[in-house]
Amino acid sequence: MQKRVAVIGAGPSGLAQLRAFQSAAAKGANIPEIVCFEKQENWGGLWNYTWRTGLDEHGEPVHCSMYRYLWSNGPKEGLEFADYSFEEHFGKQIGSYPPRAVLFDYIEGRVKKAGVRDWIRFCTTVRFVRHDPATGKFTVTVHDLKNDTVYDEVFDHVIVASGHFSTPNVPEFPGFSTFGGRVLHAHDFRDAMEFKGKDILIVGTSYSAEDIGSQCWKYGANSITVAHRTAPMGFNWPSNWKEVPILERVDETTAYFKDGTSVKVNAIILCTGYKHHFPFLPDDLRLKTRNRLAAADLYKGVAWVKNPALFYLGMQDQWFTFNMFDAQAWWVRDVIMGRIAIPADEATRAKDVADRVAAEDAGQDAHDAIHYQGDYVKELIAETDYPSFDVDGACEAFFAWKEHKKKGIMTFRDNAYASVITGSMAPLHHTPWKDALEDSMESYLRN
Ligand SMILES: Cc1cc2nc3c(=O)[nH]c(=O)nc-3n(C[C@H](O)[C@H](O)[C@H](O)COP(=O)(O)OP(=O)(O)OC[C@H]3O[C@@H](n4cnc5c(N)ncnc54)[C@H](O)[C@@H]3O)c2cc1C
Ligand SMILES: NC(=O)c1ccc[n+]([C@@H]2O[C@H](COP(=O)([O-])OP(=O)(O)OC[C@H]3O[C@@H](n4cnc5c(N)ncnc54)[C@H](OP(=O)(O)O)[C@@H]3O)[C@@H](O)[C@H]2O)c1
Repeated sequence: MQKRVAVIGAGPSGLAQLRAFQSAAAKGANIPEIVCFEKQENWGGLWNYTWRTGLDEHGEPVHCSMYRYLWSNGPKEGLEFADYSFEEHFGKQIGSYPPRAVLFDYIEGRVKKAGVRDWIRFCTTVRFVRHDPATGKFTVTVHDLKNDTVYDEVFDHVIVASGHFSTPNVPEFPGFSTFGGRVLHAHDFRDAMEFKGKDILIVGTSYSAEDIGSQCWKYGANSITVAHRTAPMGFNWPSNWKEVPILERVDETTAYFKDGTSVKVNAIILCTGYKHHFPFLPDDLRLKTRNRLAAADLYKGVAWVKNPALFYLGMQDQWFTFNMFDAQAWWVRDVIMGRIAIPADEATRAKDVADRVAAEDAGQDAHDAIHYQGDYVKELIAETDYPSFDVDGACEAFFAWKEHKKKGIMTFRDNAYASVITGSMAPLHHTPWKDALEDSMESYLRN
């Protein structure tokens, strides 16, 4: 009997899984039947941009957390697919910090070439997954949104690739219910033009805070105030940007901070992160983890310790993204195809997780964290036929990126790096990021 494998989500992680199986088939292997369920009507995951917020046309939570004018926040040289370079896709080398539409095109190019679209059932939300210990099989209940029908199918393996930057973590601060302006989470931020001329308060100090604040600055916000819970970001910000301790309360017009200062603001953007959220999984299958590099309860970062017929992709916090998802997907494929064995006893699998947690905790700083995740990528690709690439070179691109951010938080995207896949140097973009208000693919590729 041919095995059946369910993949939940057709974002970069799920697509990596489809490409992994297709590449084995292209080399003559007998692969299982793959069914990928994707609730949106197109692939690309977070990169599949929509103007919508809240609920979509079917009443499903909108997945997209991206916004107009989003450019990659790290160098593309850190995420390039080892089996499909930017040069292969675009026919030339391109700049190092592509806008969202350019990265979407690149993600799509590889899977179009692989011809895996027919494996995906679009507009189909996974509602529930159950495991039957007697048969060892999973029953997956899905909702076909277009036909409004619900049905069950049975699988030997389930691979959860539903992402973890879509369900917002939304803290409340006293006074929010009577604040006179807009309060929104980063998940619902779409267009910085909305905040032109406005005074903005941002809560949080990670990538969303930095980038959404920078977007608002670039598109003409009057002032940006960023409130930190732990520590300020500490970049050399423009003159109309300030960092303050955590928010204590707001009244109709004004935000009050822990150090006794206050500022009048028109809008509050909560850049307070996301939750690992799997409403379709029962307790015995559901991952509960903080957003960290060594995610809880995943052997080798992917196999569910308590039942290694179930896998999760991309659940780690992310320095490496697309190429790490590939490393995971190739490894999971090889487990499912019997090429790699997972330890039979749960204690050994749990020890692997504990060791990974301890190794991450032993790191001191971002430099160590980048190496840690790079080593993880190396570990996985050494066990499969994913094309080996210069992972240390990708780490170097990340280190250079961090230095460039320290030098100029509004200019770091004006740098370029060498591809670790083809060796060629990226061109400098024709316009400094802060002046490039028009960021269509046509404009970006005009180098
Ligand atoms: C604002 C923002 C900007 C980012 N920018 C960058 C960047 O510049 N560079 C970078 O490398 N990474 C970036 N990332 C990180 C991002 O996590 C990855 O690039 C990537 O999108 C993760 O891929 P994924 O497939 O794991 O998850 P996602 O992209 O989230 O895809 C998950 C897919 O699963 C589907 N799905 C979810 N639930 C169900 C269900 N129940 N049934 C069926 N389908 C379901 C969703 O519709 C979606 O298509 C960014 C993240 C955010 C939030
Ligand atoms: N252009 C881009 O490419 C781009 C743009 C935006 C986001 N992203 C990506 O999106 C992902 C998510 O980033 P993120 O910044 O949204 O989430 P994140 O990295 O998880 O950071 C969450 C932030 O919220 C703060 N926070 C959480 N709860 C809080 C509370 N109750 N009060 C105050 N602060 C609180 C945290 O502060 P503490 O430090 O105190 O915990 C932290 O600063 C990342 O992978 C990032 O790369 C990319």
